[in-house]
Amino acid sequence: MANLVSTWSKTTQILPGNYIFPVNQRPGPVEVSLCQSIPLIDLSTSHSQQVQEILQACQEFGFFQAINHGVSEYLIDKTMKVCKEFFNMPNEEKEKLYTNDLTKGYRFFTSSYDYINEKIHFWRDNLQHQCHPIDEWVHSWPEKPTNYRDVVRKYSLEVRKLSLRMLELICEGLGLEHGCFEELTGAQLLSINHYPWWPDPGLTLGLPKHADHSLITVLLQGSVHGLQVCKDGKWLNVGPVPHAFVVNIGHQLHVISNGKLRSAEHRVVTNSREARTSIVNFINPCRDTIVKPAKSMSGTDAPLFRPYKYKDFFKLFHEKQGDTQAVMKIYKIKP
Ligand code: OGA
Ligand code: NI
Repeated sequence: MANLVSTWSKTTQILPGNYIFPVNQRPGPVEVSLCQSIPLIDLSTSHSQQVQEILQACQEFGFFQAINHGVSEYLIDKTMKVCKEFFNMPNEEKEKLYTNDLTKGYRFFTSSYDYINEKIHFWRDNLQHQCHPIDEWVHSWPEKPTNYRDVVRKYSLEVRKLSLRMLELICEGLGLEHGCFEELTGAQLLSINHYPWWPDPGLTLGLPKHADHSLITVLLQGSVHGLQVCKDGKWLNVGPVPHAFVVNIGHQLHVISNGKLRSAEHRVVTNSREARTSIVNFINPCRDTIVKPAKSMSGTDAPLFRPYKYKDFFKLFHEKQGDTQAVMKIYKIKP
């Protein structure tokens, strides 16, 4: 198992060649601006306003930040704290947990899609585990820090509830039948990223350009900048808003909406001052679930995508290392 980037990067000031991205993928001079580039949506406004604002954000940006979402700030802070504590545990503790074998129910590794075969690694360490149905999985999660399971269990349940609420609002906005996404929400994956600080963020990336493999993603980014979203060929910084969730449309909703909702490409740049921790909640279909454009979405227009099983999509997504265009090419129906 490869060494964690957070461990070895502390003892060097030289960026190894296999962390340097090709010029056309590099972030360039990183602008640590806190601009509110994607819509900020208040979930305490009227139902119809929420439906309308969310639909518009998902069509234009594929991304928005949600405030007044009902998840307690206390729980959010506690979850962020325990996740940071996980990555701050002594090496001997963390090494015991290394695994890249997803059948164990969790995965704790450094970087990337395929560490062994890929040419360039990502500047991150990552812990991920399944969360739904929660009682089937919680026993496979890390036992340390001692309150990890308890806190993350509560958080996963709350963030799932919020994700399903977002999906209902989107469903209504698209004019689809109530509950029509239900059968596509059978899995939930929590992915916790730790991006160590690095003095020169211009050469490497925490996560290269990708769109998510999920139905919908609900992300907590804490207070450190790093996430950027691509809109009309430009990279927009997603400035941290205290206790807000960043919500984005995954590939699966793009397909179900027959291309009406954007599954926007995004990436993570490293931060030259502080390490960054993000907690990413992916709501996914189960492995054998068929994904295809909803009938009423393609009623007047022809369907743009062929039906596929989620597991086949997921396999391809990894093989193509998250390259959205390459994956979608395979499922797109040619006009
Ligand atoms: C992801 C992702 C963004 C972040 O895990 O797919 O885009 O801010 N993460 O960590
Ligand atoms: Ni992502």
